[in-house]
Amino acid sequence: MNPGKLLSVGDFERAAKSVLPRAVFGYVNGGTEDCQTLAANRDAFRSVQFRPRGLVGVADRTQAVELWGRRYRHPFGIAPMGVTAMCRHRCEWDLAKAASHAEIPFVLSGLSTLAMETVRKADADFWYQGYLPGDREVIEPLMRRLQANGVNVLVVTIDTPLGANRENNQRNGFTIPFKFSRGLLWDGICHPRWSANVFARTLLSDREIPRFRNVVADARGYRITEEPKGGLRGGRDRLDWSHLAWMREAWPGRIVLKGVAHPGDAQIAERMGLDGVIVSNHGGRQLDGAQGSLDALPDVVAAVASTFPVMVDGGFRRGTDILKALALGARMVFLGRPFLYGASVAGQAGVARVIDILGTEIDRNLGLLGCRDVAELGSDFIVSRG
Ligand SMILES: Cc1cc2nc3c(=O)[nH]c(=O)nc-3n(C[C@H](O)[C@H](O)[C@H](O)COP(=O)(O)O)c2cc1C
Repeated sequence: MNPGKLLSVGDFERAAKSVLPRAVFGYVNGGTEDCQTLAANRDAFRSVQFRPRGLVGVADRTQAVELWGRRYRHPFGIAPMGVTAMCRHRCEWDLAKAASHAEIPFVLSGLSTLAMETVRKADADFWYQGYLPGDREVIEPLMRRLQANGVNVLVVTIDTPLGANRENNQRNGFTIPFKFSRGLLWDGICHPRWSANVFARTLLSDREIPRFRNVVADARGYRITEEPKGGLRGGRDRLDWSHLAWMREAWPGRIVLKGVAHPGDAQIAERMGLDGVIVSNHGGRQLDGAQGSLDALPDVVAAVASTFPVMVDGGFRRGTDILKALALGARMVFLGRPFLYGASVAGQAGVARVIDILGTEIDRNLGLLGCRDVAELGSDFIVSRG
């Protein structure tokens, strides 16, 4: 499929739906229980509207942003996503390479299958996201491996102390650890392009079932079909602030909390000397009924110093969505599914096309808003209804 013919993130979503087996698309696209938070993430954008200025002179525009002294070409990045090998063979490579080329952050999920030793060859500046158990003996060696791979930004996801209730996955027979079934086999047969490009290529060129190679210090990790001793999610429910306080001492780089929804948690993170937070509800994939991300953002921004980076993800699909979050005080916006749709449809070229679409939308709409630099965006440019 020629990604150049697709004009919007919505086009990529529809194209990915036709390419991916039903169960895989459901895993990517779905939420939890009644999908209230999934819907709230999108609804939130409707309650914030622009108040553009005229006659500003917007011939020279910039959307570059700076974070911890590093310049990024766009104010958005690729959120961590696990098990992307289901969508594309060596998917993390395509995501990392496109991000590096576009000079945007790429966050490698702990539940990824391409070893970080390889990923760094595609993007030397990748951030790492951990699903950490409350267990120093596991975290400490993992931190050493991350340091050996030049990782500077360690993102700790805090909204997954337990696995969520994703009924659509259960209905489709999709589980992690992955289990083969006749239904899934038939699903694959009905999607021959996926069977050839993803399933066959994985088994023929890698000659093994993909493994979670970045979840612990040992790069052999676990097969995606395997339930390790104590469970893949074991010990996450014991992770608490005391582990973060210890990690602050032990980790010399940046620590970012992802999955922050309450302003009080952002304040503790700031007091503890952590380096930033990502306001997120995991794309509506964890606690159903949680507030939409854009709705949660202003209280978090107000609770911390203006120098403390507050980032956000959840439901962003247009350049205008990103501009709204920046006007509400976000320093960086992350997107998940849109980039995975891009990779599913056309690999690295698909991801690059999604980046290009979003960058172009931001550039055009920044000008229409009467603003030359995303750094100038603020509450004066928007009104919130309710
Ligand atoms: C398929 C998929 C897998 C995900 N895996 C992870 C993960 O491994 N770690 C994590 O912190 N968040 C994970 N997330 C959540 C994303 O990082 C991000 O919070 C969310 O996708 C943002 O919403 P959006 O997809 O609407 O942009 C995943 C999301 C998706 C769609």
